[in-house]
Amino acid sequence: MFEVIAILISYLLGSISFSILIAKWVKGIDIRNHGSGNAGATNTLRILGKGPAIAVFLLDIAKGVAAVWLGKLMIGGEWVPVLCGLAAIIGHNWPVYFGFKGGKGIATTVGVLATLAFLPTLFAGLLAIGIIALTRFVSLGSLVLSALTPVFIWLMNMPYPYLWASLVICLFAFVRHRTNIVKLMQGNENKLGARKG
Ligand code: G3P
Repeated sequence: MFEVIAILISYLLGSISFSILIAKWVKGIDIRNHGSGNAGATNTLRILGKGPAIAVFLLDIAKGVAAVWLGKLMIGGEWVPVLCGLAAIIGHNWPVYFGFKGGKGIATTVGVLATLAFLPTLFAGLLAIGIIALTRFVSLGSLVLSALTPVFIWLMNMPYPYLWASLVICLFAFVRHRTNIVKLMQGNENKLGARKG
């Protein structure tokens, strides 16, 4: 019973879409009608600039961290923290408060995976940052992060629930980035620093 409550609270926490709230607050707009249309830090950077984007990124990470810790503290073990983390990402991507139209879950994924498996996320994250610095495609970096974290978790022999979670999270990331993937293949994906959506 408490497991279900922890997972439900995590979903509700994940559903708090900081890019939507901050864009509304700063500029009175719905971020989902601008730029890439995504409710996330990258699109916030595009539309509102660095300060709001950093705030969104950190707050979205914090949701993932908080959800996993909620599972750890309320129940403990491995599976419930994992399910709480997944619920926060699901909430971010399909938020109950905002018509189930949210973001792509990467910042929240960073929070979840870093809390569950810090070193694998760090290694994958550093490679992702390198890819973004080289190509200026945040989406490509996001996909690299999502795809490599399970590999590092596996290489480092971490608990099976973490491997399972990272694979599901990777699947979410690829599903949510399908438009970006098409654009990357067609050569018209947005680059970091470009203003147009
Ligand atoms: O995390 C989202 C990022 O990978 C892509 O965002 O706005 O360029 O679709 P966006």
